[in-house]
Amino acid sequence: MNRPLIKSTLLKALEAAGAILKRSLGQREASTKDSALSLVTATDKAAEKMILETIKAEFPDHAFLTEESPAEGRSSSRWIIDPVDGTTNFAHTFPMACVSIAFEQDGILEFGGVFDPFRDELFIAEKGQGAFLNGEPIHVSANATLSQSLLCTGFPYDRRERADFYLSIIKAFIMEVHGVRRTGTAALDLCYVACGRFDGFWEVKLNAWDKAAAMVILEEAGGRLSDFSGNPLTLDGIQNLASNGLVHDEMLEVLKPYKEM
Ligand code: IPD
Ligand code: CA
Ligand code: CA
Repeated sequence: MNRPLIKSTLLKALEAAGAILKRSLGQREASTKDSALSLVTATDKAAEKMILETIKAEFPDHAFLTEESPAEGRSSSRWIIDPVDGTTNFAHTFPMACVSIAFEQDGILEFGGVFDPFRDELFIAEKGQGAFLNGEPIHVSANATLSQSLLCTGFPYDRRERADFYLSIIKAFIMEVHGVRRTGTAALDLCYVACGRFDGFWEVKLNAWDKAAAMVILEEAGGRLSDFSGNPLTLDGIQNLASNGLVHDEMLEVLKPYKEM
């Protein structure tokens, strides 16, 4: 594995796609995909094309899992790409969205990069090498009590069918914490846990591309990832819980009634 080339290619792709997002905000050109709530814009497609071209120029034989095109390639080296995480925000000109790219070798997530071009914030991590925000090392918060936590969550795309279920989890948490936020971009939510802005995050039904890059970043920043029963989080896991580690068990306790779903 050519680590320096993977890292420089990852950075190049994040920057190039981020520039597309930044200059395209305000173009309200969304159409729907598989459900009325699942949007896609010309920017999602343009950013994805740019990312694929940038990476394939260096690694034409690698495999790719991307949100807006079918998976391609058969290789133990795989890139997992969300060209715009936060498409609904983006389509409404709410400037909270990012580009998320992970690199996996033999099933192990080795690199993760998340770039928010609206705040010029680049989160990057390499397995075993720590996590960084704009070049500075980051770490999860030191808050050890759920009652003093700021949490974040997201509403999955089946929220109209299961509104009561999702709202009851939110209700359970707001009784316990300082606050609960919903930003509309799971990748940044996880990065915000990684750098201590949030103490914890939960969401069900994320896709691999929503979380792969930020999983590396969070783990390298000292956080913990699991399902609602405390088992390690996997890329295809449905229940996603992330925290600074210190409030994790308390979060699991709140989620206990919801772990069978
Ligand atoms: C979505 C965002 C959102 C989360 C959804 C994701 P997209 O990704 O991460 O925060 O709640 O579950 O699908 O569609 O903007 O790439
Ligand atoms: Ca996404
Ligand atoms: Ca997306």
